Amino acid sequence: MILKNGKFYQNGFLIDGALLIEGGVIKETISDPSKQDFADLKDKNEDGRIIECKNKIILPGIIDCHTHLRDMSQEHKETFRTATKAAAFSGITTVFNMPNTDPPAITSSIVQKWMNKAKNNIYVDVGFIAGIPKQLNPEEIKNIIDLGVVGFKMYPHESLNGLDWTIKGNIQLLLQISSRYKIRIFIHPQWPRSATDTRELFENYFFRDSNLLKLHDKLFPCTSETQFVQYVLENYENFIKTDHLSPEEYPIVHFCHISCKDSYSLIKNILVKSPHYKISYEVTPHHIFLSNEISLSKAAVGKVMPPLRDLGVKEFFYRELRMGNLLMIATDHAPHTLKEKAAEFLDAPSGFPGLETYPLLFLHEVTKYKLSLVNFVKIASENPAKVFHLQTKGFIEEGYDADLLIIDKCSEYKINPSRFHSKSKISPYEGMKTNIEIWKVFLRGIEINIKDRTPIGKIIS
Ligand code: NCD
Ligand code: ZN
Repeated sequence: MILKNGKFYQNGFLIDGALLIEGGVIKETISDPSKQDFADLKDKNEDGRIIECKNKIILPGIIDCHTHLRDMSQEHKETFRTATKAAAFSGITTVFNMPNTDPPAITSSIVQKWMNKAKNNIYVDVGFIAGIPKQLNPEEIKNIIDLGVVGFKMYPHESLNGLDWTIKGNIQLLLQISSRYKIRIFIHPQWPRSATDTRELFENYFFRDSNLLKLHDKLFPCTSETQFVQYVLENYENFIKTDHLSPEEYPIVHFCHISCKDSYSLIKNILVKSPHYKISYEVTPHHIFLSNEISLSKAAVGKVMPPLRDLGVKEFFYRELRMGNLLMIATDHAPHTLKEKAAEFLDAPSGFPGLETYPLLFLHEVTKYKLSLVNFVKIASENPAKVFHLQTKGFIEEGYDADLLIIDKCSEYKINPSRFHSKSKISPYEGMKTNIEIWKVFLRGIEINIKDRTPIGKIIS
């Protein structure tokens, strides 16, 4: 297959040229092709297919390391099929799936069951993140790693395995496992508080502050995020020092959805001081584009963990984005049903779908010259590919997977959640505008944003 006459993104430039794709891989990239170059390329084009991409922009497929695909007993919220279809139609060609399923994916048999179900039911490539087994059972940990998971996830506020992650001994053991098996630990950074305390705080605040999203931010404040980040970083440094680890042995830690200035600064500073530390982080689209001051017809739609923060924090992350300081974006796509979200604010579940709005929002900023395309490709594709060692993804280069997103500019239209492929047809971005059309999306050279396509996604290990 040849993609011709489009502009493809390579090394910071948009190149007028053509791509030859064969066997799911980018075989050749040519810039400013002459008639002869193009004739030569045509000779090598085994399937004879040529796609005219005039006026279109070809980008590497997006990699999103934080999604909740649900399925299993939560099919009413989302399935592997619906979530990965949402990704496929958005240009997100690789996602990582989180383990807070029902039951939680904390044993090898559950992880295995999950992977079996996903096989033949995913439209994009999926990496699985497991929960941490009970009592840190070494045999289970080994078995789960052997299944090919991309990491373990730790939830200190809602521990999946009953372990208290505020006990130093537990976190030290986890860092040891990471170091020994070279496996990544994804962390939801939040110092826990009991449900009774939360209810009490809620009732005390409720009459004083009618803005429920601000209240939610007060209930789960930046101080608790920062406290947990600081605690992990201290343990990380202590472990390295007391065990005299060499850089290859450093534990691998990824902080999910950083949403506060102080927690962000702690991570940035430690990476400046010790660039060899294997520490990464993500920021979500909603902490860049939304604040707790937005007005929604139903506040629970904007209820998410971590909460939307105040305007100053949102503006801070938006500036960091524009200045090219962020490492990567992850959606934390967290689908729930309309009915669940209609509950009383405190009882409504946290989270909303994010896959189908992410590229539309960011690329809209690019067309308004508020965000450079170079920055976008870095945080959406290149950096996640580098950090997670996805060696054939994230770049339009010869030998890489032909995971591609082809976009076009169109007249502005409003985001309409009722059109989502996700089962969760709600969004705090409803009514916001974009001028981006996701024209074609390819996974290993196969067009996947087509209605009746069979799922060809693979499990990444
Ligand atoms: C997530 C969910 O719904 O699974 N919700 C959310 O608000 N992000 C859970 C989580 O990631 O904490
Ligand atoms: Zn999440």
